[in-house]
Amino acid sequence: MNTFFQLTLLLILNGVNLKLVENPNSNQDSHHETDKAHEEVLPSGDNVDMKRYRPVLVIHGILSGNKTLEKFKERIERFHPGTKVVIPDNYSNWASLEPMWNQVLFFGSLVMKMSQNHPEGIHLIGYSQGGLIARGILEQFPNHNVRNFISLSSPHGGQYGTKFLHTHSSPSCQFGHFTEDESVVELRDTKMYTENSLGLRTLDKQGKLVLISVPGVDHFQWHNNPTVIDQHVLKFLPFINNLNATPNSNLFKLGLLRLHRMVLIGGPNDSVITPWQSSQFGHFTEDESVVELRDTKMYTKNSLGLRTLDKQGKLVLISVPGVDHFQWHNNPTVIDQHVLPYLD
Ligand SMILES: *[C@@H]1O[C@H](CO)[C@@H](O)[C@H](O)[C@H]1NC(C)=O
Ligand SMILES: *[C@@H]1O[C@H](CO)[C@@H](O)[C@H](O)[C@H]1NC(C)=O
Ligand SMILES: *[C@@H]1O[C@H](CO)[C@@H](O)[C@H](O)[C@H]1NC(C)=O
Repeated sequence: MNTFFQLTLLLILNGVNLKLVENPNSNQDSHHETDKAHEEVLPSGDNVDMKRYRPVLVIHGILSGNKTLEKFKERIERFHPGTKVVIPDNYSNWASLEPMWNQVLFFGSLVMKMSQNHPEGIHLIGYSQGGLIARGILEQFPNHNVRNFISLSSPHGGQYGTKFLHTHSSPSCQFGHFTEDESVVELRDTKMYTENSLGLRTLDKQGKLVLISVPGVDHFQWHNNPTVIDQHVLKFLPFINNLNATPNSNLFKLGLLRLHRMVLIGGPNDSVITPWQSSQFGHFTEDESVVELRDTKMYTKNSLGLRTLDKQGKLVLISVPGVDHFQWHNNPTVIDQHVLPYLD
């Protein structure tokens, strides 16, 4: 039987059931009859469920748009029929390199609108960079009613190296940036480098940093602002990770504590997110060993509420081997076993 047929049949059957339940005979016995009928008409062993699902908002990854998430959407709709799945196409492709905070505010306004229209709660999913934006939204809009937040291989603990941008033509691919007067600060003169905040200096000293210059760096419009990696890493992650304390830090934490589940999915064969444990808030030390989430200061000090979520059983860490960074949203096993169960 094809899916359309199954769905139609289920809808019809469900309609029949509803009618029977809505018009129960005043007689107790015949009420029992309806219960029996209910049991008998439902096809057994069918994994297509007619329950009502909360709506889902999905945020795409860097240098792509909502088209890459078509299959993902289809799969959710197929196994959870009736689910409203919204995947905005805004800030797609090159626009995905615009400052993260702008994206948080824009997508956040969509999340809040959806929240208001769905008092039963919504689910929020972010793929790669989209997961960081999604988390930024939870923190920046602590009155959200997001029930479950799922991130598909997002570098919550930071990103080591430039692979994340997977581009060779932007001025920032070597971590340089413009100053206020638009002169260029080259990598080795940046604060990021001298303070070794991303480990770039270490890599360089070890001879592991290769800088390749591509002409035409002015080709893209950077709005006269400090550039991509600056916006993406320096002005964003330390804040949403409450590493740079601000008057908002406590609200950021409250926003995360509202969640019913925080589901962090990643795996050792991702090959872009480095270290891959960053998908679960892990990070490198100076000597390149990995600190896993529960050993990070962020966790032990509970500065972001992650320890609380964990103690409440609300933090779900999922590691799946064999999945490449660009396949998380297309991998049926990942979707069926690790995403769908949290879309209730
Ligand atoms: C992508 O966005 C466009 C414009 O909003 C929309 O029409 C389309 O359905 C979206 N695609 C997916 C897969 O969500
Ligand atoms: C967001 O995308 C939709 C659909 O493509 C478009 O109509 C809308 O103008 C966009 N909004 C912004 C602020 O770019
Ligand atoms: C995945 O990564 C692990 C650890 O690095 C490695 O041992 C394994 O061979 C990889 N598997 C695949 C399918 O690439």
